[in-house]
Amino acid sequence: MRKINIFDTTLRDGEQSAGVNLNLQEKLEIARQLERLKVDIIEAGFPAASKGDFQSVKQIAETIKHGSVTGLSRSVQSDIDTAWEALKGGAEPRLHLFIATSPIHMAHKLRMTPEQVIEAAVSSVKYAKRYFPIVQWSAEDACRSELPFLAEIVAKVIEAGASVINIPDTVGYITPKEYGEIFDFLRKNVPNIEKISLSAHCHDDLGMAVANSLAAIEHGATQIEGTINGIGERAGNAALEEVAVALYIRKDYYKAETGLNLQEIKRTSNLVSKLTGMTLPANKAIVGKNAFAHESGIHQDGVLKEKTTYEIISPELVGVQSNSMVLGKHSGRHALRNRVVELGYTLSEAEINKLFVRFKELADKKKDITDDDLVALIFEEKFDLFKEFYQLSSIQVQYGTNQIPTAVVVLMDGQGNEIQEAATGAGSVESLYNTLERCFKTEVKLLDYRIESVSGGRDALAQVFVKVRVNEMETSGRGTAQDVLEASAKAYINAVNRVFMIEKMREENQKVVIKN
Ligand code: KIV
Ligand code: ZN
Repeated sequence: MRKINIFDTTLRDGEQSAGVNLNLQEKLEIARQLERLKVDIIEAGFPAASKGDFQSVKQIAETIKHGSVTGLSRSVQSDIDTAWEALKGGAEPRLHLFIATSPIHMAHKLRMTPEQVIEAAVSSVKYAKRYFPIVQWSAEDACRSELPFLAEIVAKVIEAGASVINIPDTVGYITPKEYGEIFDFLRKNVPNIEKISLSAHCHDDLGMAVANSLAAIEHGATQIEGTINGIGERAGNAALEEVAVALYIRKDYYKAETGLNLQEIKRTSNLVSKLTGMTLPANKAIVGKNAFAHESGIHQDGVLKEKTTYEIISPELVGVQSNSMVLGKHSGRHALRNRVVELGYTLSEAEINKLFVRFKELADKKKDITDDDLVALIFEEKFDLFKEFYQLSSIQVQYGTNQIPTAVVVLMDGQGNEIQEAATGAGSVESLYNTLERCFKTEVKLLDYRIESVSGGRDALAQVFVKVRVNEMETSGRGTAQDVLEASAKAYINAVNRVFMIEKMREENQKVVIKN
């Protein structure tokens, strides 16, 4: 079996998805889960992009003990210096350098000649090798590049010291057969190519990212890049869980394997989906809600007689649990702590204490507390970092069939001031959001609103996801409560707080630039 390295870029390319803005704590949690999943390389961000990106790459590099943490860098010395500062404390620092190689990108985006691009690529690899033991080099828009030029530049960066060469399908344009041919061409025409690792990085604009990644493996790639749940720019990246399970189930065909702990797939997918607010279609391969549901009578009958009639992947393989454990109002702190650990979350003693209070409150109203309920509470406690801006004190909403819906909201701001406002709207949620907008004194455009129940039953927790635009910035927010209006208010506040947090960081960034 050939070993295929898995390079996860959920925190870099994935975070480039429209409306996704993860904070440091959320990124760290995802990175820790990726470590449990046993990905080989975590691309934690783009250190030179912002102070926030720098901090999170640094913290992730210092936290992750198994596997390598990398950061993206343009082919300029200042980016490389910043990346080194962020990554040098890691167990196995590596740099991911890129520059575009297609005629269209070189002429219109970079405004550089092919010769200048070669010069920039080679000198940046040489410069990076002064610091980094491993340098990965990517030819952005490789699939629309001229093959002889691609081979020439790849040969030169290998000579300069790059040990991983990545061939991205940046715009999701290539077909599996053509992608395989590019790998064949490079393997035939680039000296010393057998000494380096070839990597595939596919986008899903034509829905072929996973098929293209698998084709690359058939044609010599030993590293696959992608994201959990396939999130990413536009239509997203190759879904790593699909690539890994395809290799496992069809090892007879691909004769290649990853080092992933497949049983962590479902948990990783849930975490990424919840923290990014990007919910999954029910029919999503491997991790969708219906991925293992057999609906038709004929299929159900077949599966009952012999599972393999219609089931090629067992849910247990990817960590889908058929019976989740239930806690109730008589469960103690010890049982709660154990369950939190079993669910894979790391909470401090103070966080466990706060969680226990929330758990008891919920258990008074809801008989069975399922794993999903518990995870929702953990998320509320652990990831609502934005309390320094606005925090919800109370809401009151009046609705009647022939009345104008009216909301009254009390918020606390970061300085401990109470803000109270009231407004009407066409419906309860609109009246609530109009009122909150008055509290924020900023125009907030609601772009998306979704509600789901955390578990089944009439007493289930409600989880609301919103996408908003404030000051030309799009962010998402989430809120959980037993009441749908309270969950709606929390999600809105969470999204707006996120905008204020990003603005604050940008301001601080600005100050740093001015100071320098
Ligand atoms: O899609 C792409 O080309 C990229 C590169 C920066 C590797 O994400
Ligand atoms: Zn990409």
